[in-house]
Amino acid sequence: MSELMIGEIPVSQLVKQYQTPLYVYDEKQMVENIKAFKQGFQSDHFKTKILYASKAFQTVAMLKLIQSQGLGLDVVSGGEIYTAVCADFPMEEVYFHGNNKTPAEIRYAIENGLVHFVADNLMEVELLVALSQEYQKELQVMIRLNVGIEAHTHEYVVTAHIDSKFGLLYESEECQKAIQFIQGSEFLQLEGFHAHIGSQIFELSAWIAEIHKLVGYLKDFDEVLSLNLGGGFGIRYTESDQPLPIEESVRELVRFTEEALKKQGLVINELLIEPGRSIVGEAGTTLYTVGFIKQTPNKKYYFVDGGMTDNIRPALYQASYQCDLATKLREKKTEKVTIAGKMCESGDVVIQEALLPIAEPGDILAVYATGAYGYSMSSNYNRALTPAVVFVNGETARLVVRRQEYEDLLRGEVQ
Ligand code: LLP
Repeated sequence: MSELMIGEIPVSQLVKQYQTPLYVYDEKQMVENIKAFKQGFQSDHFKTKILYASKAFQTVAMLKLIQSQGLGLDVVSGGEIYTAVCADFPMEEVYFHGNNKTPAEIRYAIENGLVHFVADNLMEVELLVALSQEYQKELQVMIRLNVGIEAHTHEYVVTAHIDSKFGLLYESEECQKAIQFIQGSEFLQLEGFHAHIGSQIFELSAWIAEIHKLVGYLKDFDEVLSLNLGGGFGIRYTESDQPLPIEESVRELVRFTEEALKKQGLVINELLIEPGRSIVGEAGTTLYTVGFIKQTPNKKYYFVDGGMTDNIRPALYQASYQCDLATKLREKKTEKVTIAGKMCESGDVVIQEALLPIAEPGDILAVYATGAYGYSMSSNYNRALTPAVVFVNGETARLVVRRQEYEDLLRGEVQ
């Protein structure tokens, strides 16, 4: 096959139908990822729940897919709650995160039947006490803890991060007060503790350290609580990334939690995790059209018709990606090139160095593993239009977000 297929559809067909730039998601791959999480994340000793961290990629169609697979949802804003409401997502399965939820957002959440709050700080807990009273609604509150562990790809640092803007240190006065306020409140119930230790994690050791910390706190409580370990499971952006298989990783996390609890003679009600990237990242591909090609003294550029507006990650995090000329898969890769976008910013580079065949304007360039934090962090800088999103399932493709049109850019402007 000399042409890239997504599902069973040749990319040239997708481009013909939907134009470029285009975000394409392989639904089967997302479902497989979810199934791997579900198969591994089970225990005979406590309940388990997987929440999809929807900030990675949120659309109504995506939330419907998540719901069809029986996962819960992690949301971080009124806008994400609104999307969940529009997707008819069961609100009792939604967990509201965020370090500065506004009173309006909390009210909106309560009014829409959301009951699980992951509280970040003492002021938030005080507000939840007041609003639960006002609405006479019972709310479940997890406290986000800063467990002082910061996970990097292959290692982790302890006590590296005590001044993080997220969460509370368990030993702090604020945290202890927050616990007391929840326990003393008529409508709030302490559901348990949450921590999130990083992104793109490839080793279990950091999570194991996190589990030990969280389990250690439980001995201060008579009630049976739940623990949420957060997200951060690494994916393969390039060959140098070697993620652990999902199913095995989460099976190990369950086993370590069971062991840690047993050692201390403790029990929990439920164990939760919140993967985002690892469900959608590798299932997404961005298709671009090559435009002008330019040789500078030291570099050859292939310019594409998108860039930092549809994928900010290379500019923001120096993130690496792999790509192919999608209809020239069999051609010899003789050109060492830089793939640059079309935005007015020198940092608008999609891939610093790629080895590709000789390209001509009009060729399709496929950038792999763009499914997480691409669309969700897209912008209209330079008045670029947000690309369409297409879901492919085997032989069928369906449009789930239409491509923006110029008119969309003025929406909200008051003349
Ligand atoms: N839970 C919490 C509390 C989080 O803060 C995050 C991500 C997740 C779950 C999901 O993490 P994941 O499984 O997707 O790694 N924009 C950055 C990533 C920011 C992640 C923020 N929190 C990027 O493009 O790499």
